[in-house]
Order: sequence, then C-alpha cells, then structure tokens
Amino acid sequence: MKRVLVIAAVAAGVLGVAAAAFSGPDLLDYYRFDKALNNHLEASQADGGAWPQLQESCFSCHGPRGQSRNGHYPALSGLPASYIEGQLRAFASEQRHSPTMGPLARSLTEGQIKLLAAYYARQAPAETASAPASAVLEERGKTAVQAHSCQACHGERLAGKDLAPRLAGQGEIYLANQLAAFKAGERRDPSGAMNGIAAALSNEDIPAVASYLSRIPTGHGHSANE
Ligand code: HEC
Ligand code: HEC
Repeated sequence: MKRVLVIAAVAAGVLGVAAAAFSGPDLLDYYRFDKALNNHLEASQADGGAWPQLQESCFSCHGPRGQSRNGHYPALSGLPASYIEGQLRAFASEQRHSPTMGPLARSLTEGQIKLLAAYYARQAPAETASAPASAVLEERGKTAVQAHSCQACHGERLAGKDLAPRLAGQGEIYLANQLAAFKAGERRDPSGAMNGIAAALSNEDIPAVASYLSRIPTGHGHSANE
C-alpha cells in the first residue's frame, strides 16, 4: 500500500514538472495529448484484450479507431464489415494494388481479417475534412452525385450499404484518388459498377464530387478534428 502511494507521489511529481516545463500553447498541447492518451486507453479497455491489440497497428495511418484525420488515408470507422474483409483480401491477392496495404494484408490470417473488419465496422464514423468547401465545388459535386444516383448503392445519406462503402465524411484526397483510379481502370470493382460510373465523371467532376462527399455529415455529431 505504502509503495503504491510512493509511486503515485513520484508519478504526480513527474507530471507536475512536465507540466511546469511547458507554457501557454505548449501546455494546451500537453493537455490535449494527455486527453487523447486517456481516450485511447479507455477505448482499448472498452475493446478488451491485452495491449498491444492488432487494430492498433493500423492507427498510425488510419487514425485512432479508424477515424482518419488525414485526407490521404481512408477512414475505416463505420465501413461495412463485408467491404473491409473484401478489400483486405483484394490487397492480399493484388487484385487491388497498394504497395503499403499489399504486404500488410498478406501477413494477416483469415481470422485476423474478420476480427479487424468487425472492430472497424462498429466504430463511430467521423468526418475527416475540416476546412470549409468552396460553394461552387460543393454545388457541382452535389449535382453529379444526384445525377448518377450514388445513393442507390451507397445507401441513403451515403453512409454505406452491404458491399458499397461509406462515402460520407471519407477523406477528400482519398476519394478523388479512388475515383480517378476507377476511371483509369487501375482499380477494378468486382461488380464492374464503379468503373463505368467513374468513367462517366469528367476530370472536373471528380474533385467536386470528392469535396462534396467528404463534407457530408456522418450523422454521429462527432468530428475527428475535435
Ligand atoms: C503505413 C500506412 C498504413 C497502415 C499501417 C495501414 N494502412 Fe490500410 N491503407 C493505407 C493506404 C495508403 C490505403 C489506400 C490504398 C489505396 O490507395 O488504394 C489503405 C487502405 C486500406 C483499406 C481500404 C479502405 C477503403 O475504403 O477501401 C482497408 C480496409 C485498410 N487499409 C485496412 C487496414 C488495416 C486493417 C490495417 C492494420 C492491420 C491497416 N490498413 C494499416 C495505409 C496504411
Ligand atoms: C451500382 C452500384 C453503385 C453505384 C450506383 C455507385 N457505386 Fe460507388 N461503389 C460501389 C461498390 C460495390 C463499391 C466497392 C467496390 C470494391 O469492392 O472495390 C464502390 C466503391 C466506391 C468508392 C471507393 C470507396 C473506398 O472507400 O475506397 C468510391 C469513391 C465510390 N464508390 C464513389 C461513388 C460515387 C461518387 C458514385 C456516384 C457518382 C457511386 N460510387 C455510385 C457501387 C456503386
């Protein structure tokens, strides 16, 4: 008991010194970091199991809980589990080519693929974009999305359905890259639908659609940039 108290006192002292070493904005950053760490620990505990957990190896690129804060990396949170599984298998077999995800997916067992897909599917989706959109781009994107009935497959509010992933709140640059890859035939959709649809989008439509989609609220009122 005494030893625990001593350790606690030493820890409090160290934190005190660390906090004192910062000032102004630094201190704010420190508290943010501390808060993020606590949230992270709570999330790990909530998901059970010993540290480190497999899904944490993805956080460096896809963000904590798959809530990406970087428009280049797709958010995995709230994507349909069947879609995530399909993509991991496609990366592993090189049917979908990615120098990053290919080797990683090949190192996963079928059981791990299922666990990871279930984990990310149940995380709350969060919006990746933070900067406001240009009104012109937004309008052009909205018109193209309505004209091509993207909702028919990607679900009402474009929140994802079955094999068609969530587009709402997904990373802007990531979306534009994927649409360009479908259009060029570099990424193939097993159903063939996306290659035809992307080919019908003009080179001006693609960034507009990406800008519009990335700013559609995910309906969870929680932004990854908070
Ligand atoms: C070093 C960075 C990095 C790490 C670590 C990483 N990924 Fe990825 N991941 C990427 C990139 C980049 C893409 C986009 C590939 C592309 O452009 O097609 C991606 C794409 C994906 C996709 C496709 C998403 C979609 O919307 O189609 C899934 C699923 C995925 N990753 C799962 C994982 C899982 C699960 C882990 C951890 C086991 C992981 N990734 C770790 C970089 C990473
Ligand atoms: C006929 C059904 C269908 C329609 C309509 C459709 N999609 Fe898709 N879309 C899919 C499917 C299925 C996938 C998953 C492809 C795969 O497994 O690689 C997909 C994947 C995507 C992706 C890749 C997302 C990611 O996370 O990597 C983007 C971006 C996309 N669709 C955008 C659109 C846009 C924009 C429209 C409307 C202009 C649209 N889709 C209309 C079926 C459809």
